[in-house]
Amino acid sequence: LRRSASALSSSSHPLRRGFSSESAPDRKVAVLGAAGGIGQPLALLMKLNPLVSKLALYDIAGTPGVAADVSHINTRSEVAGYMGEEQLGHALEGSDVVIIPAGVPRKPGMTRDDLFNINASIVKSLCTAIAKYCPNALVNMISNPVNSTVPIAAEVFKKAGTYDEKKLFGVTTLDVVRAKTFYAGKANVPVTGVDVPVVGGHAGITILPLFSQATPKANNLSDEDIKALTKRTQDGGTEVVEAKAGKGSATLSMAYAGAIFADACLKGLNGVPDVVECSFVQSSITELPFFASKVRLGKNGVEEVLGLGPLSDYEKQGLESLKPELKASIEKGIKFANQS
Ligand code: NAD
Ligand code: LMR
Repeated sequence: LRRSASALSSSSHPLRRGFSSESAPDRKVAVLGAAGGIGQPLALLMKLNPLVSKLALYDIAGTPGVAADVSHINTRSEVAGYMGEEQLGHALEGSDVVIIPAGVPRKPGMTRDDLFNINASIVKSLCTAIAKYCPNALVNMISNPVNSTVPIAAEVFKKAGTYDEKKLFGVTTLDVVRAKTFYAGKANVPVTGVDVPVVGGHAGITILPLFSQATPKANNLSDEDIKALTKRTQDGGTEVVEAKAGKGSATLSMAYAGAIFADACLKGLNGVPDVVECSFVQSSITELPFFASKVRLGKNGVEEVLGLGPLSDYEKQGLESLKPELKASIEKGIKFANQS
């Protein structure tokens, strides 16, 4: 099952732009759900990341093929595929970062919470294994509903006695990626220099983009434009689910977003200064126990959860409106983890 790739790498490789560091320390990354719609392109992108020395691809089926395929790419990391629960421990052992895109995606007409019944159990069993085999790894949770799966993971780790709030992240990077793209299009500015923080959670109105803090500043956007941009960002996932018409949800843009976030985690671990990304983490910046906001990443994971900064009246309203739903989703996750 194990397949190795030679550590050939060329500093002029065109796909390496955006990733840094030539003499990076050894880092193992595991992807759980690696044969899926997100898992496969994410495996590809992690294979292109020179900060990764070992890449473990785990799924309940299909990983030998994905691992064989990806392993032929002449970049630094050694790739191994693991299939079935009996190989999960080997996949996880020694991991610095574990990325979890395992579970079912939405179909048109469903909310992310409709995935809870299936995905909550998957996440719970995977996190139980993480607590056993790589309790110090940074966990990047992609599986939906993120607003509940992150609290589930926290409870599983607490029960196992391994919980470290600095090491658990709900991946909300796709919301940021979308907000940047939509803002640049509307404001007619080059997208490469755009930054937009997105806070709250990862479902519907719990996704709160802070366009008042977007850079570069755009003076050509009306209140109506900001409302439309906010709504489009909140409904970005549904836009893709509907366009895919029953064939799943965002996979390629999510793989991109997941790779950006994992890269930031690796840079933080490696001591690169000022690595800041938005993420859904344990938080005290509001009264809710978990909240997405800008987070500074460091050698131990979360170095600092950054505050919300000044909000417009529209954003203040959005913040108050999202709290009941986000609170309920968090509580649902905590209850599930403790009752089953
Ligand atoms: P998919 O069905 O294409 O792939 C999921 C993979 O998970 C499959 O290969 C499946 O075999 C695997 N899997 C199922 N149970 C498993 C287990 N116990 N252990 C390991 N692997 C297991 O789905 P997808 O499109 O890749 O989406 C995966 C998840 O990511 C969904 O829950 C989706 O809602 C979520 N998602 C989140 C975001 C986000 O922004 N956080 C964005 C897109 C999708
Ligand atoms: C997304 O935002 O694309 C994901 O959460 C998947 C979904 O169900 O919308």
